Amino acid sequence: MTGSDPDVVTTERLLVRPPQETDRARFVELFQDDDFMAFYPAVLSAKEAEARFDHMVAVCRTVPFGKQPVVERATGLVVGYTGVDYIDLERRTWLEWGYRLVPERRGLGYATEAGQALLAKARRTYAGELLAIIAPENHASQNVCRKLGFTFWKQAPVDGELCNLYTLTVGGPAE
Ligand SMILES: CC(C)(COP(=O)(O)OP(=O)(O)OC[C@H]1O[C@@H](n2cnc3c(N)ncnc32)[C@H](O)[C@@H]1OP(=O)(O)O)[C@@H](O)C(=O)NCCC(=O)NCCS
Repeated sequence: MTGSDPDVVTTERLLVRPPQETDRARFVELFQDDDFMAFYPAVLSAKEAEARFDHMVAVCRTVPFGKQPVVERATGLVVGYTGVDYIDLERRTWLEWGYRLVPERRGLGYATEAGQALLAKARRTYAGELLAIIAPENHASQNVCRKLGFTFWKQAPVDGELCNLYTLTVGGPAE
């Protein structure tokens, strides 16, 4: 991919771009890492991590703002991901926005910077509602989600855990 690749979103400090096969080893390692998987029910096994990476690639083939790597421009390192995945909730299939960074790159505004940039792509390619599902005690994530423009909807159980649900409508007539 080059600097002119339309799939690549570039910000001051980051690139956000679809996953490539060369990202597999990094993500398979991260999906098995306790710190990276904070606020996730459990780390994944090696097999689950491989399947999760395959899923990430598959979603990005159909959704331009699917969960995808966030790359730090200064180092070239994949430092996390941001974007959507499909989730079934309350008899509806949603596009659920998420993000996750390696611990050494948290608190730098990266999740907001990457999210805002990929959301701009979402606004160009999609019209509808986006969902965010966050543990009530995950204040950092809720700060990011509000900075991205999501608003609190309600608390509801998701896989048996009470979560805060946020929504954001993009691409509508108001935009
Ligand atoms: C959630 C996460 C992606 C945020 O990434 P980040 O790049 O650090 O986020 P930002 O720096 O853009 O913004 C974080 C905001 O939360 C605040 N914050 C950070 N840690 C916090 C904490 N422990 N308690 C309260 N607020 C906190 C920051 O001050 C900032 O808000 P501000 O801009 O108003 O000061 C990152 O912490 C992470 O990967 N966490 C583990 C995985 C996770 O929880 N993913 C989301 C699941 S829903």
